[in-house]
Amino acid sequence: MRSPLIAGNWKMFKGVADAIAFAKEFRTLARDFTEIEVVIAPPFTAVHAVADALRNSGIATAGQDCYWEKDGAFTGAVSAVMLKEAGAELVILGHSERRRVFGDTDADVTRKVHAAYAAGLAPIACIGETLEEREGGRTLEVLDTQLKAAIDGVSTEQFATMVVAYEPVWAIGTGRHATPEQAQEAHAHIRGRLRAWLGGEPADHCQILYGGSVKPDNARAILQQPDVDGALVGGASLDPRGFYAIAEAAAR
Ligand code: PGA
Repeated sequence: MRSPLIAGNWKMFKGVADAIAFAKEFRTLARDFTEIEVVIAPPFTAVHAVADALRNSGIATAGQDCYWEKDGAFTGAVSAVMLKEAGAELVILGHSERRRVFGDTDADVTRKVHAAYAAGLAPIACIGETLEEREGGRTLEVLDTQLKAAIDGVSTEQFATMVVAYEPVWAIGTGRHATPEQAQEAHAHIRGRLRAWLGGEPADHCQILYGGSVKPDNARAILQQPDVDGALVGGASLDPRGFYAIAEAAAR
C-alpha cells in the first residue's frame, strides 16, 4: 500500500559538476527500480542541474529547505516557487540542522509547509528528539509538538503528498543509529497520531521515513519494520554505490 521511499540529503556537499556525475551514475545503477521511489536533495546551486540529469528517470529532486515568501528582499533565501521552477518536486523542511544551526522554529516549519504546497512541492517534514529529550523521557511529546506544526492547517488533500521523516537528532551524523525497535516505536506513535488527528486513510497512506546514520549494512533491519516506509539518508547518500545499496535494501 505504501511504496518504499529512499531520499538522499546531500546537505552542503557537492558542487554542480560532482552532482551531475552522481546523477548520471546513479540513474544507470537504478534503472531497474520500479517498486521504490527515490529522491535526491542537492544543495540549491545544483538542484536545476540534478533535476535535468535525472529527467525521465523516475528519480525526483528535492530542495533541502525553502523560505515561505514567493520573492522579495530576503537576501540569501530561496523560495518554494524557485525550487519548483528549477525542477524540484519535493522539499525537506524542519531538518534538525535547520532548527539547530539556523534557528528554524515550529512556526517557521508551518509557514514553509504551506509555501511548499502553494508552489506545488511535496514537503518532507522532519521531526525528532535530541538525546537530552530522549533521556528525559520526552521523546513522544517532542514528536507530537513538531508533527502538529508540520500538519497545522494542512488539508487532507494536501496531506496526501506529505512525507514525514523521523530523525532522532542523536543519530544524525553520529554513526549511532536508532535500533529497529526504537525506530518502529517512534514510527508507530507518529502513525497513531496521524490516525487520531487526520483519520485512518491519510495515516495509512503516509510514508514515514527513518533518518539518522542509515548505511548499507543497517538499512535492511530498519526498513523491515512495519511502520518504517523508507529512509532519509545523509552521509551515505553521497556515494552513488552506497546510496544504491540502501535503495536496493528497500526494494527487497
Ligand atoms: P546521516 O544524516 O545519514 O548522515 O546521519 C541523516 C540526515 O540528516 O538526514
